[in-house]
Amino acid sequence: MPTYEKWLGPLENTYDYFYDINDAGLDELNEIKKTIASEYGNGDTRYLKTYSVSEASSLVDRSTEWIRQRSPDVSRNAQGHGRWTLAEIDALRHEAGTQFKRPPGTSPFVLALSKFKGGVGNTTNACHLVHGLSLKGLRVLGLDFEPQASMTQILGGVVPDLHLEESDLPIEALLDDPALIATSGAIRGTYFHNVDLMPANSLMNSFEQRLLAQHFSQSPTTNEIPTNLRLKAVLDIVKHEYDVVIIDCPPNLGLMQINALVAADGIITSLKPELLDRASLVAYTAAMTGVVDQVDKQYSYFRLLISQYLENGNNGHRNSQNAIRKLYGDAVMESTVPLSRGIADASTALSTVYSLEKPAGSRQAYTNAVQKMDQVVNEVFDDLMTHWNREAL
Ligand SMILES: Nc1ncnc2c1ncn2[C@@H]1O[C@H](COP(=O)(O)OP(=O)(O)OP(=O)(O)O)[C@@H](O)[C@H]1O
Ligand SMILES: [Mg+2]
Repeated sequence: MPTYEKWLGPLENTYDYFYDINDAGLDELNEIKKTIASEYGNGDTRYLKTYSVSEASSLVDRSTEWIRQRSPDVSRNAQGHGRWTLAEIDALRHEAGTQFKRPPGTSPFVLALSKFKGGVGNTTNACHLVHGLSLKGLRVLGLDFEPQASMTQILGGVVPDLHLEESDLPIEALLDDPALIATSGAIRGTYFHNVDLMPANSLMNSFEQRLLAQHFSQSPTTNEIPTNLRLKAVLDIVKHEYDVVIIDCPPNLGLMQINALVAADGIITSLKPELLDRASLVAYTAAMTGVVDQVDKQYSYFRLLISQYLENGNNGHRNSQNAIRKLYGDAVMESTVPLSRGIADASTALSTVYSLEKPAGSRQAYTNAVQKMDQVVNEVFDDLMTHWNREAL
């Protein structure tokens, strides 16, 4: 590993300097990805998480006896205990008639995890909702609309800047013709059952500049769709394959985020219970009034999700949570996402707590994290069901 001299002023070879630092970073990410793929798969591809008979029983909503009787060929671990994949669990749900079915006549729901402030846990929450809702039997598309591409790393098991090129991204469909999405490689399966991914990488930075150039007509375009409606046009073509599309938005209010907001039916905004974060929410909602006004938009769902909440009696966070609930009432989700060792451990393994085969760190921290995330997923699931039942009337 080369070492880099301390930079105390302009360097003559600044380009090479950054190039080499970038190269070293990509090498490290690739090594981490390989280690994770070996620990959770065959070194190249990750395996699907498997479930014990009691987990399968609770997911299918049938007794362990019922599950065992119908699974003579289930694979077994070294101790001889049966392990069920989510695909097998889905097949059993079909047999039991307990599989998830959207009420007839309803549409897929496009949910933007959108915010203004950076580092509030937006991507982490988005990825947990993707895996958590898929566990309930929903078909989910995770849509990474952030050049940092953290969702792509967690859901896709790739190093975005090493393994993805422009043809793997929705760039052409968004810039030139939405119909290209059907033939592009911009939607891929993932290691998790019923979860697809529309990935991102740092090329999405230049994409946004190209879209802006089209917006100001500085660049020739054959695409007549307004630049803030491009993602909606693409999703209108592909969303019917899914029950839910979850969009991870960047921490700014640029044209990519505007596209996500215009494409969305509903929004969840992650909010850290701290004053600067709350101030940023005020700026965000001011911007939202502008967006809604501009495109004449009606949302059917908006929730604030208190995130990175310090449990164990932190007065500042407790008081701040109370103030947020008092101010915004029912717009605040009942469940909260704690600042949790278990969630951080899962991120370090480029996973969610739902895709880890076994706890990445302490079992207690993992169990607590699953319990908390389950509450969030259940609340969103119930809200979606309420929405669909209303839509079906
Ligand atoms: N509930 C949590 N408990 C512990 N660590 C968390 C939690 N939520 C997020 N993190 C960690 O905090 C960091 C930022 O999280 P994340 O990337 O999800 O935030 P974000 O709001 O999407 O950030 P950005 O503004 O850069 O898009 C990551 O290292 C993540 O692993
Ligand atoms: Mg993010």
